[in-house]
Amino acid sequence: MSPQEAQGKITELSEKLHYYNHKYYQEHISEISDFEFDKMLQELIELENQFPELKLPNSPSQRVGGTISKEFPTVKHRYPMLSLANTYSEEDLQDFDLRIKKLLGDDKDVEYLCELKFDGVSISLTYENGILTQALTRGDGVQGDEITANAKTILSLPLQAKGEDLPPLFEIRGEVFLSHENFGKLNQSREAEGLELYANPRNTASGSLKLQDSSEVARRKLDAYLYFLLGENLPFKSHEASVQALESWGFQVSQTYRKCVNLQEVLDYIAYWEKEKANLPLDIDGIVLKVNDFDLQEQLGFTSKSPRWAIAYKYPAEAAQTILEEVNYQVGRTGAITPVAYLKPVLLAGTTVKRASLHNADEIERIGLNIGDTVFVEKGGEIIPKITGIAKKVVNPKPFQYITHCPECQTELIRKEGEAQHFCPNVESCPPQVRGRIEHFVSRKAMDIDSIGSETIEGLLQTGKIQDFADLYALEFDAIHNLEFETFSEKKGEIVKRSLREKSARNLIEGVQKSKEQPFERVLFALGIRFVGATVAQKLAKHFKTLAALRQATLEELVAVEDIGERIAESVVAYFSEAKNQTLIQKLEQTGLNFEVSEEDNQLQVEGEALVGKTFVVSGVFENFSRDELKAKIEANGGKVVSSISKKLDYLIAGDKMGPSKKEKAESLSVQIISEEEFLGLLS
Ligand code: IVH
Repeated sequence: MSPQEAQGKITELSEKLHYYNHKYYQEHISEISDFEFDKMLQELIELENQFPELKLPNSPSQRVGGTISKEFPTVKHRYPMLSLANTYSEEDLQDFDLRIKKLLGDDKDVEYLCELKFDGVSISLTYENGILTQALTRGDGVQGDEITANAKTILSLPLQAKGEDLPPLFEIRGEVFLSHENFGKLNQSREAEGLELYANPRNTASGSLKLQDSSEVARRKLDAYLYFLLGENLPFKSHEASVQALESWGFQVSQTYRKCVNLQEVLDYIAYWEKEKANLPLDIDGIVLKVNDFDLQEQLGFTSKSPRWAIAYKYPAEAAQTILEEVNYQVGRTGAITPVAYLKPVLLAGTTVKRASLHNADEIERIGLNIGDTVFVEKGGEIIPKITGIAKKVVNPKPFQYITHCPECQTELIRKEGEAQHFCPNVESCPPQVRGRIEHFVSRKAMDIDSIGSETIEGLLQTGKIQDFADLYALEFDAIHNLEFETFSEKKGEIVKRSLREKSARNLIEGVQKSKEQPFERVLFALGIRFVGATVAQKLAKHFKTLAALRQATLEELVAVEDIGERIAESVVAYFSEAKNQTLIQKLEQTGLNFEVSEEDNQLQVEGEALVGKTFVVSGVFENFSRDELKAKIEANGGKVVSSISKKLDYLIAGDKMGPSKKEKAESLSVQIISEEEFLGLLS
């Protein structure tokens, strides 16, 4: 291709890609499939590599990164990045409202624009002649780090703003974040790779913006909400008008802001989002109220730290203080030791908390905990509360010692290099490990034998009826009918006698027999190979098709499978090389379990392309499908299933018993709500 031809093609491709990007991210319309988009982008990247001098300064290829920043230069902000004063109660807000009225010398109600306080990382963007030229972090508010190449990978940030009335130079402030969905996916892939999981979306977003390789930033799939416009001689009269201008120029503004004409409406807004915040794609830690009228803002001015015309209201942090009474240790099925904090019971976010997770020895050391300390307990997104710090140290603490031996079998613990957790190496006979493997085998996502609970497993082990899960298949009714054993009752706090009555014994045998129908991927997951979760098992089953093939796979063959990292591969190879596992599998093979993918599963499940480029949320109960079947149907026809409702969503498929808040949210964002029948109509 001649340079002239290349130039023409590069311009054409760049324009098209800008157009489709704008359509998708600003108007939420997908005119082409992801596949076609990627193909076009790839073609552009190849041409740019061939003719680097022809690459356009705002080329859409910057979206995929490629820039390596050795360091991020410090740059002074044109307008300092101020913070907001915080309030925590209705009274504080009343004081704020009164103060504003007093400063303005008028007791008329003041109009506020209320926004959510997004828990992300603030960013400042400069646009010159409509083109994004600089992105800075907040830094110390006066100067920040220049992270332009990384910011350009955020697909929802326009590289080029669009509009007749664009000021020649302006700045925009907003919040970069990682959605719950993408954070979950990122951690899933880290889990698959055997890497340590990220703690929360905020810190991960912040760390991502400072990565040196912008292609890695692109892979993180950051997002941004913009909420503040700055510039000279801007024509807008109110904050609302400037936010609307931002939207019209193609910037992503969260559709959650609301104009409130008095303080009562502000309080209603606060109450509404306190309930609804769980349904947002990101965390918020409060709301922000800003005096809407720019003339009034100017009259009010700034203190040295923050504007007098705005304030943040923080939702009460779901935290409490209590005393750490004891640390106990749990042994998991893989032998991993987890320290658990036993607390003086305390009420937290509506429930009484007695225990909190402590993760590992390093975490205890990091916090510097001692028994008797008064600690902060918080309930974040996780179900199990955690200890976040010390409120008051105990007087004369006894130095805290992490255990050196397994609390269950007294074997000396080991800690492998690079691993945070201690392990009990007594895989063979450490009781919670033996029991845990069987509990995992019968669990819902594995063999799904719900007629066998933890107590029964304990009883079968205690009486020598089984030694491992393969033995379950050899159990006969007569051998277990009226089986008597002892177990510890959590409820009574003592050892109690149990016996396996006729019905339970029959159900047990039936459940075990029925589990032979479970597909290969479930059997593989049920084996409990370290790092092989349900999704990884699915991928391995799909790729290798039979256990015989998987057993023979080399490390190289394993890592060649999509999403299988070295840690998983090593763990799989190690598992099959152990003699005791080989014996176990031989035993299982004689039971008639599925050790290969069935014909039906083997067929590629593609039904059509009617839903390509469309996203769906499935909610409620349906007449003709289970939710999982409906999701599979969407995917088989090229559609995508997501978990949260956003403006970008194409359809909410509503079944019976769908929660009213989902419906309200979809309606407020003008997302189409369809029934099961209407969905089927989309396929024909
Ligand atoms: S306005 C001069 N609006 O909160 C006021 N800030 O404590 C500029 N934040 O650094 C900020 N959501 O990172 C504003 N809707 C919102 C916000 C918001 C989150 C963050 C922002 C800022 C901090 C102020």
